[in-house]
Amino acid sequence: MNAPGTARQLAAGLLRSAPLLSIVVPTFNERDNIAPLVDRLHDSLRGLDWEVVFVDDDSPDGTAEAVREIAAVDTRVRCLQRIGRRGLSSACIEGMLSSSAPYLAVMDGDLQHDERLLPAMLLALQGEPLDVVVGSRYVEGGGLGTFGAHRIAISRLATRVSHLVVPATLRDPMSGFFAIRRDAFMGCVRQLSAMGFKILVDLFASSPRPLRFRELPFTFRERIAGQSKLDTQVAWDYGMLLLDKLVGHVVPVRFIAFSLIGSLGVLVHLVVLGLLFRALGADFVASQLSATLVAMVFNFALNNRITYRDRQLHGLRWVRGLASFMAACSVGALANVGMAAWLYQHEQGWLLAALAGILVGAVWNYAITAVYTWGRARP
Ligand code: GDD
Ligand code: MN
Repeated sequence: MNAPGTARQLAAGLLRSAPLLSIVVPTFNERDNIAPLVDRLHDSLRGLDWEVVFVDDDSPDGTAEAVREIAAVDTRVRCLQRIGRRGLSSACIEGMLSSSAPYLAVMDGDLQHDERLLPAMLLALQGEPLDVVVGSRYVEGGGLGTFGAHRIAISRLATRVSHLVVPATLRDPMSGFFAIRRDAFMGCVRQLSAMGFKILVDLFASSPRPLRFRELPFTFRERIAGQSKLDTQVAWDYGMLLLDKLVGHVVPVRFIAFSLIGSLGVLVHLVVLGLLFRALGADFVASQLSATLVAMVFNFALNNRITYRDRQLHGLRWVRGLASFMAACSVGALANVGMAAWLYQHEQGWLLAALAGILVGAVWNYAITAVYTWGRARP
């Protein structure tokens, strides 16, 4: 592997070896936090061999430029800019993959994580039989800082639910601040779901062998510059991550989301039908037809917004998407009825026949719209 003379060149200082520790920092609109964070890393990691990799999702505030400006004069700093992509977990994963260091750390770019913990994390990984060291708010000595009561409650609930897929002894699986051995990371990188915000949950739930871990306390600091990117969508993404870990090897989570929205569509259908037929006394067939159309538009809009958020259709494409969705679902309805009728004729009982018909219709709708409505690559 060594090119001839590499060791000599390294010794002569002509080449630089990979650092011991890469700190991966996902960023989105954190321009004003970059320089202070790099300064703090220099202070805290004095005497250690480290680098920091900022993974920026093309922030409109010019975060990537701010990083490159520093990187131009500081070889410890690198910028990985992703274009047309969003996602905290996937940013962390790609940042770690861009590094050759034997030890990796992940921390936020908004100064809320305490960089002074990094040397202790590294030391623990080097000196103890551990795979991961977690910066934890929930062990003795750690804390939530100025978290509001509302966020504390949400964080605790999310932590409790996480124990479906991560060891119950891990107190702060929601932490986005940790260090991990490269081999432990590489051991599960292909199994990661890479969805949403919770990369640590993903790592613990994806590793083929239990990760040996320790938690070190830190107090979550207040954000000074910039804004949190936490929104309601984060909760949905978290649910999808947990589902993917629990059942993703059997059923794609997108199909689950699609089916959940489909069931909501049934409710919408019944409400519209009830309104038109029962309340307004309209003709049954006309009411049923209207309810079907409303439910289809509802299902399409919601799937576009949630199930396929990463490839959302807008404008004219939205209209075209709706048309292909309705066409696909109409055929799906025929498949549904055909299947149910066939089973019923073969003495299978009405409930089983109906459920089988619904399943066939749902799978058809999902498969066809995945390809024809949301599938084509678009800029
Ligand atoms: N590249 C990239 N892409 N970075 C992102 C994205 C994204 O889509 N969304 C957020 N980030 C970056 C932010 O710029 C910040 O550096 C970091 O990820 C955390 O985002 P915040 O918006 O500040 O999150 P938070 O403070 O609400 O959440 C933090 O606390 C959680 C614990 O409650 C994060 O540390 C989480 O990882 C942590 O789990
Ligand atoms: Mn934050």
